[in-house]
Amino acid sequence: MKRIVILISGRGSNMQAILEADLPVEIAAVISNKPEAKGLEIAARHGVATAAVDHRQHASREQFDTALAEKIDSYQPDLVVLAGFMRILTEGFVNRYQGRLINIHPALLPAFPGLDTHEKALQEGVKVHGCTVHFVTPAVDHGPIVAQAAVPVFQDDTPDTLATRVLEQEHLIYPEAIRWFAEDRIRLENNRVNVDIAHASAPALRTPWPA
Ligand code: GRF
Repeated sequence: MKRIVILISGRGSNMQAILEADLPVEIAAVISNKPEAKGLEIAARHGVATAAVDHRQHASREQFDTALAEKIDSYQPDLVVLAGFMRILTEGFVNRYQGRLINIHPALLPAFPGLDTHEKALQEGVKVHGCTVHFVTPAVDHGPIVAQAAVPVFQDDTPDTLATRVLEQEHLIYPEAIRWFAEDRIRLENNRVNVDIAHASAPALRTPWPA
C-alpha cells in the first residue's frame, strides 16, 4: 500500500476529508509548519502520527525546507500531499519530490493563482469558479492538472459563500485524486496528466448547479 504524508498549516479540513475517505493508502504522518495548527489535533484524534517543523525556528527558506524534507523522508512516503500548506517551497524541495508532490488550489488554474482567489473571482465577475488538484512545480500554483471541479458563481455571492461552495468540492476531488494515485492510475506525460479511469473528470459533474 502506498504511504502518504500530508502537510498542513491550519484548520486541516482537506486533510480531514482525506483521512475520512477510507482510501487504500497508509497515512504515515501529518506535518505542520505551525505547531498550533488545529489540523494536528484532528489528525491525532484519527490516530495518525503528527509532527511540526516550525518555519519560524529556521533562519532561511532553504534551511526550513531542508529540515522539512528530513522530517518527511523519515516517514518514507510515496506521495506528499499539500493540504492548505501555506509556505512557498524552494526549487530544491520541489525537485526532490518531482512527480510525487501534489497540491490543492481553490481556483480553476491557470486562473487565479496565489492568495484571495475567491475575492479575485468575484472582482473579475467570472460565472464559473472551482478548485484544482495539481502536481507541484517550482512555479507557485502551477503544474500538471490532475482533477478539477467547477461551481457556479451567483450574483449575491460573497468571498465566504463562494469559498464554502468551492471547499465542498475540494473535499470530494482531493481524496479522489489520491485514490487514483494509490491505484496507479495517474500518468504524467509531456507535463500533462492522463488518468486511467472512465470519466475521470466525474467529480465536476457532482457540482450542484441550480435547476
Ligand atoms: C483550502 O481552500 C485549500 O484549497 C487552500 O487552503 C485552504 C486550506 O483549507 N490551499 P483547509 O486547511 O484544508 O481547511
